[in-house]
Amino acid sequence: MLGSLKLTVAAALRRIATRVRLARCKAPLRRFGTDLHVGSRPRLWAPESIEIGDHCYLGHEVVIETNCRIGRFVIMANRVALVGRRDHDFRAPGVPVRFGHWVGSLKSPSPFRGEGVEIDEDVWVGFGAVLLSGVRIGRGAIVAAGSVVKNDVPPYTIVGGNPAVPIGRRFKTEEEIARHERMVAGGTYRSSEKGFDHWKVQPGPP
Ligand SMILES: CC(C)(COP(=O)(O)OP(=O)(O)OC[C@H]1O[C@@H](n2cnc3c(N)ncnc32)[C@H](O)[C@@H]1OP(=O)(O)O)[C@@H](O)C(=O)NCCC(=O)NCCS
Repeated sequence: MLGSLKLTVAAALRRIATRVRLARCKAPLRRFGTDLHVGSRPRLWAPESIEIGDHCYLGHEVVIETNCRIGRFVIMANRVALVGRRDHDFRAPGVPVRFGHWVGSLKSPSPFRGEGVEIDEDVWVGFGAVLLSGVRIGRGAIVAAGSVVKNDVPPYTIVGGNPAVPIGRRFKTEEEIARHERMVAGGTYRSSEKGFDHWKVQPGPP
């Protein structure tokens, strides 16, 4: 009884912490889905937009410093970073990089201001991975821990390394992918801050 009460209170506090962290997010356009978890000490900023879909998990110390559109069912492990590839103009002669044109400037907008990272649904980004703006992580892909991603990742591909290259496939055949997608489309999924054992994971028919 006491254990269950403690769990309920802890879960409520975690939900509140996520709301507070999302409220501190700084971007002109911010859109957040339902059932999100945001870990401690995030840095969420973008020159134009941050959009995060339903049922996503952002671990501790996640850094978003570029526009992004994140689909539903995405896991971003601790210390993942989405960063602007061309945040600072380092090619203007006579301008030290510290004073180089910055992507966040409103006075003289950078041509790269609209760049961002796209993460399609059902993607796992491993611990400490860095994703540079301009890339799209395809549906169902996995990014290995510690990767630096500078190119698009095809759907259901596992990539790793610096620069990240394909190291595997999540499913063996196109049939398996199609089956997975049918089951997800017809399924019911619901997480809970009480922990994994309290989640609803009910795949639809194959
Ligand atoms: C990507 C990952 C899922 C791959 O797991 P897997 O499918 O079991 O793959 P394997 O361990 O068999 O490795 C396949 C190949 O990728 C390589 N590889 C695995 N992880 C890698 C990484 N992080 N970076 C670079 N290469 C990696 C392996 O060395 C292996 O290469 P080889 O065939 O030349 O020996 C796993 O390594 C990983 O990074 N998981 C994320 C862990 C994490 O971030 N946890 C945080 C909690 S949310």
